Amino acid sequence: MAAARALLLLLAALGPAAAVWPQPLRQLSPPAAARCPLPPGRFRFSYAAGSAVGPGCAVLDEAFQRYRALIFGASLPRLLGASCASGQCVLPPELGKARQLFLASSHAARPACPGDEDDPDFLVLMAVLPGALLTSSLSSLLLQYYVNETEIVDFPRFPHRGLLLDTSRHYLPLKAILQTLDVMAYNKLNVFHWHIVDDPSFPYESFTFPELSKQGAFNAMTHVYTASDVQAVIEYARLRGIRVIAEFDTPGHTLSWGPGAPDLLTPCYLGKDPSGTYGPINPILNSTYQFVTSLFQEVGAVFPDYFLHLGGDEVDFTCWKSNPQIRAFMEEMGFGEDYTKLESFYIQRLLDIISSLGKGYMVWQEVFDNGAKVRPDTIIHVWKNSPPYKEEMANVTKAGYRALLSAPWYLNRISYGQDWMAAYQVEPLDFTGSPEQKDLVIGGEACMWGEYVDVTNLAPRLWPRAGAVAERLWSNATVRNLQDAYVRLASFRCELLRRGVQAQPLFVGYCDHEFDGF
Ligand SMILES: *[C@@H]1O[C@H](CO)[C@@H](O)[C@H](O)[C@H]1NC(C)=O
Ligand SMILES: *[C@@H]1O[C@H](CO)[C@@H](O)[C@H](O)[C@H]1NC(C)=O
Ligand SMILES: *[C@@H]1O[C@H](CO)[C@@H](O)[C@H](O)[C@H]1NC(C)=O
Ligand SMILES: *[C@@H]1O[C@H](CO)[C@@H](O)[C@H](O)[C@H]1NC(C)=O
Repeated sequence: MAAARALLLLLAALGPAAAVWPQPLRQLSPPAAARCPLPPGRFRFSYAAGSAVGPGCAVLDEAFQRYRALIFGASLPRLLGASCASGQCVLPPELGKARQLFLASSHAARPACPGDEDDPDFLVLMAVLPGALLTSSLSSLLLQYYVNETEIVDFPRFPHRGLLLDTSRHYLPLKAILQTLDVMAYNKLNVFHWHIVDDPSFPYESFTFPELSKQGAFNAMTHVYTASDVQAVIEYARLRGIRVIAEFDTPGHTLSWGPGAPDLLTPCYLGKDPSGTYGPINPILNSTYQFVTSLFQEVGAVFPDYFLHLGGDEVDFTCWKSNPQIRAFMEEMGFGEDYTKLESFYIQRLLDIISSLGKGYMVWQEVFDNGAKVRPDTIIHVWKNSPPYKEEMANVTKAGYRALLSAPWYLNRISYGQDWMAAYQVEPLDFTGSPEQKDLVIGGEACMWGEYVDVTNLAPRLWPRAGAVAERLWSNATVRNLQDAYVRLASFRCELLRRGVQAQPLFVGYCDHEFDGF
């Protein structure tokens, strides 16, 4: 916790309007708090004595570098077109001739910052800024940084604080996913639920079944996630304390799988003849389970998290009902007309396969609703609003399963006004149940379904609205004052702009650093 405390302390320090989001458990400033100058050139993070980890802990060492850049403005070299790696910046040739820093201020041509010389970023900026580039966005150079003496003790309320991105309805470029992971980390969200494939497209490049993306992606060259893309996402997330849980939703939501996997989907019938269209995965063929075993063997190895999300939602029975072989199978199995039994038949075989791979699973609530036999450590993902999700939370936890809440947090849905407030006012434990039931709620996920979202509007729609969910899942249940949250969230959103994130405004106002990512 020592390192997390240090980060928070600095985030709290970024100016008079700065405030911490999500709100920490405890944040104390002594009555006569010292206001300490923070010279960028000499500032260093360090590990507190007695920390569980020390120098050489790659995750924290890299976090220190990132936050150092965030605090003192790494966006400046980027604005100048410099390419930076490991703290060293190389300037584009046209700026190569170093020019004297020209500052329109009462300072001398070069501010007196002893010690700055050994800071490569700062030196670059000092040397090359031509006067013409000195816009208001660069004025942070002139700022003095201060940190108020503050002690922060912090711990999350819920362990699972997730965000779902849907990369099937629209393809999201790798960069957009990586930026989302950055902003998730700023919000202390720690699970990236990657709804990677669905009906519209199959962008995941499988090495076991390459035809799936060759035939199922929007474009097999440009709109796919290669093995190295997937590794990049997992590693980028890991360094930010974020788990990646992949979802391969079956047996419904699989239309894009069909072209690359012959016989996997159920042929629908029109009267006595196949209509040429396809429905959910065909649950009556042995070949289906061979396919599913091989695919999940791969997926289970590629995504190291213990949990896979297996979907299981919204299975449309009309195609199954139309198919004579399926109807004969229903009769043979004694399922009558109850197609939820057929769905559960499939799901149970799938769950056995996943268990045999040594993986745990999360499923959408229908799997529970339809009475499939699931392992005791299954996580049930509650997403429906009717019947009311509170009833479902009660039922799931009463049955002894862990519950994950998303129903009130479909952020792809937007409405005029400050709709972050509704997300913020949710109380995940507000349902009828015993304390033991409440203990089974592991957290929640904000969802960004992709019907109307691609890279053009992803960031503004997510941020800062997903921050409302993040604080609800991180902070004490008692932290729910809307006026206070508004002030802190508006300030946090300005900080996101300063960091180059295209976060939308909450309401009327301005930021010292407006978005300048053009
Ligand atoms: C830091 O302390 C000064 C007074 O010493 C106060 O004006 C300022 O608002 C404080 N900043 C933060 C972020 O609390
Ligand atoms: C499917 O597998 C089961 C059990 O392994 C076996 O009894 C059955 O004959 C197989 N069906 C077909 C059509 O191969
Ligand atoms: C919860 O369980 C009760 C009792 O079995 C049932 O009547 C109700 O429909 C269930 N609610 C949901 C949302 O499934
Ligand atoms: C949350 O706030 C309440 C009321 O201030 C307090 O009693 C409780 O200890 C807090 N929870 C934690 C985990 O600190």
